[in-house]
Amino acid sequence: MIFSYPPRLKLAQTPTPLELLSRFSAEIGGPRIWVKRDDMTGSGVSGNKIRKLEFSLAKALQDGCDTVITCGGVQSNHCRTTALLCAQLGLRCHLILRGSENSETDGNLLLDRLVGAEINFYTNTEFQQRGDEIYQQWVDHYAAKGSKAMVIPVGASDGIGLWGYIAACEELKTDFARENIEPKHIICATGSGGTQGGLTVGNTLYDLGATVWGINVCDDEAYFLNKVSEDIRQWQQWYPENIDAGFNPKQLGINVIDGYVGAGYAKASEDIFNTIKKVATLEGLILDPVYTGKAFYGMLDQIKLGLFDDTEDIIFIHTGGIFGLFPQREQLHL
Ligand SMILES: Cc1ncc(COP(=O)(O)O)c(C=O)c1O
Repeated sequence: MIFSYPPRLKLAQTPTPLELLSRFSAEIGGPRIWVKRDDMTGSGVSGNKIRKLEFSLAKALQDGCDTVITCGGVQSNHCRTTALLCAQLGLRCHLILRGSENSETDGNLLLDRLVGAEINFYTNTEFQQRGDEIYQQWVDHYAAKGSKAMVIPVGASDGIGLWGYIAACEELKTDFARENIEPKHIICATGSGGTQGGLTVGNTLYDLGATVWGINVCDDEAYFLNKVSEDIRQWQQWYPENIDAGFNPKQLGINVIDGYVGAGYAKASEDIFNTIKKVATLEGLILDPVYTGKAFYGMLDQIKLGLFDDTEDIIFIHTGGIFGLFPQREQLHL
């Protein structure tokens, strides 16, 4: 299969390690859980978003933009990563944060402010009702000042951002060969769909032979089946030269494991915090309550239910998110 990547900046510390959670796997009686350590893609910029932003920000520079506008929750890892990378690249970053203006300057928000991002707060409803209008208003605002702004959608999950986890699959191919494993399942947390979408396409392009599962931390299965297929459709439309006759995105399996959102986005139950503590204690691996902790908990539950019984090895993509742990410190009861 012939495919070529669009322009890309080298921003992430990659390849990231693939590590076996040997004590944890033994304790639960298998399968062997391998963690792709994308929490190690950088320090302040850690996590999954930097992989996507290598492509999105390359496009911003290519298009002559001096400003990047993006959106997320108050504790958005994506917004924090974008803000830090913009500072690194000398770009202005404008964050549209969904939440209260009075949010505590902690975790990701602290870092957003530290690197000098411009921030405006909107309620969830406001953003849902007129998100596009809000983006356009700020694009026009900068245009009137002689600046050119690029809008990166929530989570950088779009046709460009998908390349980040397509490229990660090239790394996984090398990881699997080195470890001499043939995992049948790759699992990640899904929040805006781009990680799952990239992995789903990359799994086919690099012939990994696995099933990719997204465990949604907000919305529901129907929402993400639609969102991920839309992102893939957009990727296909924007990069038609990459599709040869043998590649049919309609035949890609998009798999969502629903049922672990709990009380809502960024709201984690005691079970999730207990899982975070257990993984930290047994393996020195830090998960977060918004994304990776929920997804890891869901994966463990599905192991118990037998979903992954057909394989000895499964892959958990650690998508980062450590800064989201600090504002929820009280629920750890330490
Ligand atoms: C730490 C972390 N893990 C997982 C995700 C989910 O990735 P995606 O938005 O690509 O679905 C996000 C962002 O939404 C995140 O910040």
